[in-house]
Amino acid sequence: MAVLHNSLAFFLLVFLLGFKTAKSESFLGVNYGQVADNLPSPSATAKLLQSTSIEKIRLYGVDPAIIQALANTGIGIVIGTANGDIPALASDPNFAKNWVNTNVLAYYPASNIILINVGNEVLYYGDNNLKTQLLPAMQNIKNALDAVSLGDQIKVSTVHSMTVLAQSEPPSAGIFDPSLADLLKGLLEFNNATSSPFPINPYPFFAYRDDPRPETLSFCLFQSNPGRLDGNTKINYMNMFDAQVDAVRSALDAMGFKNVEIIVAETGWPYKGDSDEVGPGIENAKAYNGNLIAHLRSMVGTPLMPGKSVDTYLFSLYDEDLKPGPGSERAFGLFKPDLTMTYDVGLSKSIQNQAATPQSPVTQTPASPSPKPNGAGRIVPEESTSDAQLQANFDYALVICVCFISLFTSYNS
Ligand SMILES: *[C@@H]1O[C@H](CO)[C@@H](O)[C@H](O)[C@H]1NC(C)=O
Repeated sequence: MAVLHNSLAFFLLVFLLGFKTAKSESFLGVNYGQVADNLPSPSATAKLLQSTSIEKIRLYGVDPAIIQALANTGIGIVIGTANGDIPALASDPNFAKNWVNTNVLAYYPASNIILINVGNEVLYYGDNNLKTQLLPAMQNIKNALDAVSLGDQIKVSTVHSMTVLAQSEPPSAGIFDPSLADLLKGLLEFNNATSSPFPINPYPFFAYRDDPRPETLSFCLFQSNPGRLDGNTKINYMNMFDAQVDAVRSALDAMGFKNVEIIVAETGWPYKGDSDEVGPGIENAKAYNGNLIAHLRSMVGTPLMPGKSVDTYLFSLYDEDLKPGPGSERAFGLFKPDLTMTYDVGLSKSIQNQAATPQSPVTQTPASPSPKPNGAGRIVPEESTSDAQLQANFDYALVICVCFISLFTSYNS
């Protein structure tokens, strides 16, 4: 009897493992910032990515070497235009056409470009002139893509910092800054009409920095905590990531854009920082990124968007040693220049399961987005897209099933 059950369990386990390796984790992306003088070669980076479950990479600009190195890997590539190109893109359709010829057609489809971000955090960094030129620039890029019949395959958007929200607590009360409402309405109509995503940069790290209590830290790191109750919805939020993403969801819904998809263009946690910084450290960084990845893999979603994982681009692939600002700005890298892991968060394809148990959402309180996500550095522009992921629930059910069978088996033996 026990033998029979054991082999059954073994069989299922093997099946499950095979399944896991094969499964798509299209929701997992990574940022590739290049403000550094010690980055590995593009081909080494392409190999590294292929050894992980990361399926998408976001560049801040357009770097031919890395785009070419990623050719025929299937890895989704998000590229971006510089903020400085926005005026020309907005005023001159030919400039946009040339931009697409040079930066997209030269590499596509061998290199799987999936999204073009026009500018980066323009509503935060830009002057008024630049802000009003953003939408026309996006439209001209979109027109240029349509002209070569790529408008459906390659989406156009722009990346936002969490500062576009005036309020994020509780999540159900998330609302955009009224002074940006007109601009955002135009951008969101564009996202909605073209089925392009709304990329935003939530950083629980900054929320903790601004409210450095132990319970806030566990809430931010997906660790055991009492949760935070959203009094309007009676949802008890269990982690800051869900709370921040749902605040964005609420803000979009409040403007009538329930169908515009959110993608997390950046999120991360630094593994070291200056002595006066609150929060950086290997343990915290490993907990945040590892638990976030497990949470995404669980496919449980957020309380307001259950059952699917938001496309998330981790920040960042490597440290950027030339970034200005506090020490933490130069310590977000998941991998070192010699391609070893800075700390293990279970991204490696062969061992994909360790780090962290998923933590599901359900419940409660608000979370605050960072006031200004990082001032310093994400210097170069750009953004990303996303796509689908399903399947998760199925994996989850399988895991539970196998646990069950294992239990049953040990009980019988
Ligand atoms: C979003 O797009 C759909 C389909 O094109 C349209 O029917 C709807 O009115 C749009 N929503 C908003 C708020 O513009």
